[in-house]
Parts: sequence; C-alpha cells; structure tokens
Amino acid sequence: MSAYYREESALATEVRRIISKLKIANEERGVKVVMVTSSGLGEGKSTVATYLAIAYSKYRNTKTVIVDFDLRRPRVHSIFELEKKNGVAEILKGKVPVKACLRDVQYPNLQVVTCGRRAKECTSEVLNSPRVQDFFSELRFYHDLIIVDAPPVIPVSDPLMLGSEIDGSLFVIKAGKTQKPVIKRAIQLLRDARVDILGLILNNVHHALPYYYDYDFYKYEYYDYREKKKSKSKNSADGT
Ligand SMILES: Nc1ncnc2c1ncn2[C@@H]1O[C@H](COP(=O)(O)OP(=O)(O)OP(=O)(O)O)[C@@H](O)[C@H]1O
Ligand SMILES: [Mg+2]
Repeated sequence: MSAYYREESALATEVRRIISKLKIANEERGVKVVMVTSSGLGEGKSTVATYLAIAYSKYRNTKTVIVDFDLRRPRVHSIFELEKKNGVAEILKGKVPVKACLRDVQYPNLQVVTCGRRAKECTSEVLNSPRVQDFFSELRFYHDLIIVDAPPVIPVSDPLMLGSEIDGSLFVIKAGKTQKPVIKRAIQLLRDARVDILGLILNNVHHALPYYYDYDFYKYEYYDYREKKKSKSKNSADGT
C-alpha cells in the first residue's frame, strides 16, 4: 500500500482537482455518499475511488470511508492489504454490526469497509433489503464523505440498485478504450435510475495522451520565477 498512493502522480493531481469540486457539492448540496462507477470492467474505478478517499481524508482532516461494494470483483481489501472478512456481505446479512466493520488504515481520517467473505453470494434480495439503507445511514452519521467503489453499470445492475442510497456518482472513462456509444448507454442507465452524475473522470490519460503529463509541462507550470530573478541578479553581480 505504501507505494500505491503517490502524491506526485498525475492521478493524484487530477483527484485533488475533483476534490475541491466535491467539497463544494458537499458543503452546498450536502453530497455525502459518492459512488464511483464506469461502463465496463477494468477502467480504473477502484483505483480512482481509493485515490479519492485517501486524498479527501487528508483534506482538512475530513472523516472519510471507502466501501467496497463491488461484491463480484472486490479489490479495495487487497489495495489496503486487509482481510475480506467482516465487511459489506456480513453487514447486509445481519451477521456483524457496521461499527465492527470500520477498519482503520495508515491514513488517520480514513476508514475502510471491505467486501466481506463470500460477497459474491449476496443475492439481489440481500441487496434490496432495508439493511442497505441502515448501513448507509450509519455511515452518514460517522463520516463526512463516503466513497463507494461500485461495479460497472453495463454488465451488472447492482450500481443502479444503489441509486436511492447515494447522493451522486462519478463516472470513470478509460481514455483510448471506452467507446462513445457504450458511455452514452451507461450514462442513460444511470439517469434512468435517477443517479445524479457529479462528473466524468478521464483515466489512463498518461497512456492515451502522454504529452499532456509530460514532465516538462509540469516543470514549466511550477517554475519559480523568483528563483530565476535571484540567480539572475547574482549572475550579474558576478559579472556572468
Ligand atoms: N490511473 C492509473 N494509473 C496506473 N494504473 C492504473 C490507473 N488506473 C487503473 N490502473 C490499473 O489498471 C488496473 C484496473 O484498475 P482498477 O482495478 O482500478 O479498475 P476497475 O474499474 O476497478 O476494475 P474492475 O471492473 O475489475 O473492478 C489495475 O491494475 C490498476 O492498478
Ligand atoms: Mg474495481
């Protein structure tokens, strides 16, 4: 995990931009439960959700939790090197209370709820039970922001079922891979389920548009001109 989140990476930079927008949505519109989804598999949902949760928890000490609601292809537990056990599956089956599933990690204001054991066996009956609502109500009580790592929209209907529990969704698009008609269809499905789409996140930009994150681009952006002035006057004093 220590090597997973890199403060200086292009993704962390993008995520910090999204966070300032999320903070405004949080303060002005009470947006607290944010789902991260995409149209298909492997587009970067878990990565983006994790980066968002870590960065948000660091932002003015905001109490944040990331929930692994991708019960078919869970990943958050492995990112944080936690056991799956005692997570969403146990909570929704009524086996373990929510509080016992809130795991502390190395970031002081961040907690994690893993997918739980045998999460794949959660039926649609379990996912539709009133326990889902109770689970999110309790998380809202303890945390300022709840990030939900959800499955993709096209192959499964789970993210659409969460529609009434979440305040909005971020939609991840893999640059150079996700196709336009597929994005349109996924967005339509979310809209039909009355999910408020808070924003689109273009992932994989580094590979699809490498020049955009070129080192020189940032070097130019953050060039400290006062340093330049100082060395110029020093050079003229030296006669160089
Ligand atoms: N911005 C990024 N920079 C580097 N690697 C990335 C980035 N986004 C995703 N990856 C890598 O791509 C792979 C898929 O990412 P991830 O697991 O986050 O996608 P996902 O949409 O959650 O997949 P799934 O549909 O299986 O849940 C992982 O190996 C991840 O480390
Ligand atoms: Mg995932």
